[in-house]
Amino acid sequence: MNDTSWARSGDAGRSDVERQAARPGALAAALSETRAKTVAELGLGPGMSVLDAGSGAGELAISLASRVQPGGRVVGVDLNAELCDRARAAAASAGVNIDFRVGDIRELPFDGDEFDAVRSERVFHCLDPAEAPCAAAELVRVAKRGGIVQIVDPDHLQTAITATDRERGRLLAEQFSRISKNPESGLYLGGLLRAAGAADVSVELWPSMFTSLEAFLAVRDLWSELAYLVARRVVDAEQTAAFMAELEDRDREGSFLATVITYSATGRKP
Ligand SMILES: C[S@@+](CC[C@H](N)C(=O)[O-])C[C@H]1O[C@@H](n2cnc3c(N)ncnc32)[C@H](O)[C@@H]1O
Repeated sequence: MNDTSWARSGDAGRSDVERQAARPGALAAALSETRAKTVAELGLGPGMSVLDAGSGAGELAISLASRVQPGGRVVGVDLNAELCDRARAAAASAGVNIDFRVGDIRELPFDGDEFDAVRSERVFHCLDPAEAPCAAAELVRVAKRGGIVQIVDPDHLQTAITATDRERGRLLAEQFSRISKNPESGLYLGGLLRAAGAADVSVELWPSMFTSLEAFLAVRDLWSELAYLVARRVVDAEQTAAFMAELEDRDREGSFLATVITYSATGRKP
């Protein structure tokens, strides 16, 4: 019989702060390729101002600082005050000056026409789909005329993971993906940006392939997500434990594979 004690662990339903603090370096490494390509589309240079909306622990904002110096400005906004504190501490230890503020992407604490570039990554899947148009409109509002607006988000329902019982694996992948308020947010980004008034909107797809469980766990907090579902009796503990044990076996044998699909939508404020 599989050990199901993990399902009763305090891990169930970990907070955003705990999730993001768990593996910050691994997360940045796993996302680095997609980030490098999407950030290049912002066309950042010295003297520019850039907003990262939903800046989390601040990694991306910190990495943007050198691109806008000398004379530029990077601002991060996040709903979570504790994450803003962490981001400020990370910026201080990196020796960069970034304004991290507590704020809501649905009502950004800025005047209109303030930033040369506005970006938001992996935030729209946290929003109710009904709130997404308002958040997209806010991103466009705070951009300067001619400024770039970019949203990057996954489609969690396209996540694929190897499993011997393929139907069960697929069902579990769908169940943990549905924990997000808006699991398919990535699919809708282009339409949202156009509806918010952005021009020249282009949508791109960024597949990521994970051949080790550790790398996949950096982007998906799988244990915690499954424990959360088991604790709420959405999925069966025994079957889930078998699925997890198999993932670990596959990882050891070198036959683990997972893919995540991310979309970016990039446009310009007319
Ligand atoms: C998955 S994390 C992504 C963080 C960061 N953008 C990254 O790519 O690493 C989602 C972040 O969105 C923030 N968030 C969720 N809802 C928000 C809202 N309404 N306004 C601002 N931030 C929000 C959360 O606090 C969290 O830091």
